[in-house]
Amino acid sequence: MKFKVPRGTQDLLPTETWKWQRVEAITREVCEMYRYQEIRTPIFEQTDLFQRAVGDTTDIVQKEMYTFKDKGDRSLTLRPEGTASVVRSFVENKMFGYADQPVKLYYSGPMFRYERQQAGRYRQFVQFGVEAIGSNDPAIDAEVIGLAMDVYKRAGLKKLKLVINSLGDADCRASHKAALIEHFEPSIDEFCSDCKTRLEKNPLRILDCKVDSENPLIESAPSLANYLNEESTAYFEAVKTYLTDANIDFVVDHNLVRGLDYYNHTAFEIMSDSEGFGAITTLCGGGRYNGLTEEIGGPAAPGIGFAMSIERLLLAMEAEGVTFDAEPTLDAYVVTLGDAAKRVGAKLLTDLRANGLRSDMDYTDRKMKAQMKSADRLEAKYVIVIGDEEVEEDVVMLRNMSDRAQDKISTADVVQKLLQDIKEG
Ligand code: HAM
Repeated sequence: MKFKVPRGTQDLLPTETWKWQRVEAITREVCEMYRYQEIRTPIFEQTDLFQRAVGDTTDIVQKEMYTFKDKGDRSLTLRPEGTASVVRSFVENKMFGYADQPVKLYYSGPMFRYERQQAGRYRQFVQFGVEAIGSNDPAIDAEVIGLAMDVYKRAGLKKLKLVINSLGDADCRASHKAALIEHFEPSIDEFCSDCKTRLEKNPLRILDCKVDSENPLIESAPSLANYLNEESTAYFEAVKTYLTDANIDFVVDHNLVRGLDYYNHTAFEIMSDSEGFGAITTLCGGGRYNGLTEEIGGPAAPGIGFAMSIERLLLAMEAEGVTFDAEPTLDAYVVTLGDAAKRVGAKLLTDLRANGLRSDMDYTDRKMKAQMKSADRLEAKYVIVIGDEEVEEDVVMLRNMSDRAQDKISTADVVQKLLQDIKEG
């Protein structure tokens, strides 16, 4: 075989896509309940947008972006995440002027990151995410987290762990940054070249460096928790109270920093606690990003959101042994013998479909037995058999596949009969 799907991508075949559609339906239903509306943004954006929003020192921007020049010599990037695009669109379309704030948006679509392929980690993956922009109320933080938990619960997942942290505001981060520089600077030669650049620009990134993760200085680094000011602490306490009131269990982990630069205050991740789940257990990540609208040239509009991979949600369902009910089956399968019967059958099929009945027939001139086997495999509720004799008499043989009872009925009546039986049955 000459061609294969690119590494880190996958074909979703009909045996899988129906499950995706179910999950996507759940995400839409939950968003409707919370009044989040769908936004669709382009799959590529100006490269500069991600450098600004996600951050120059992040792994995503430094190593993982699919960046290319178009024929007009513009640098474009396949979106590695959705928040930057949504916030760009919020600013560009002046959504800050909408009467109802915060503006509550959701999106679902492919994202692209050049990452090492492993179970649950892909180079093209689908993120469902929400963004609530225009409110700095801790109650909306709890709402966004609750929405994510609801999606998982509706999909049937039980083994979930919600981890939250506060990253504080700009002031706390500045004093924490100074403390980190002081901590790492004397020994920075022990660290990788990336960390050397990170030291001045964003020392927080050293804490989640994949190369230097074993260095004891990481463990002993000053914790952000000790630099939270009164306001940030009060905000975090309020978020926790709202979560508790909503009966959402959580654990606080002060080491949760997240891999994107735009976060402050609330940060959270939802993990799968299922034993069967692979090494990567994070299902969903999100947090607050006050200041991001200004960073990309708009007025102040504090925001919070999350994104989850649909691939990982389905893997978690598999690990917990949760399944959806099977696909809807066919209402009718038309079996025909001979050219005249085929013509009658094709016309009948048109009528069946026009009346909303899921139906199909054979297009490979197979023998009756083979056609009946297809009807069985496709779990058709009814089989309609038409041969020369039936054509002559203007009837069809209608077989109910649940009890195998069959009846000759007039061709003109078959659609009505099926509609009635299926409604009753
Ligand atoms: P993130 O933590 O980079 O955050 O990604 C969020 C989620 O996307 C992850 O928890 C995981 O489910 C999924 N994900 C990320 N990379 C991959 C991959 N290579 N393969 C499969 N799934 C992956 C963000 O993207 C932020 N934009 C989330 C956000 C929205 N924060 C605020 N609003």
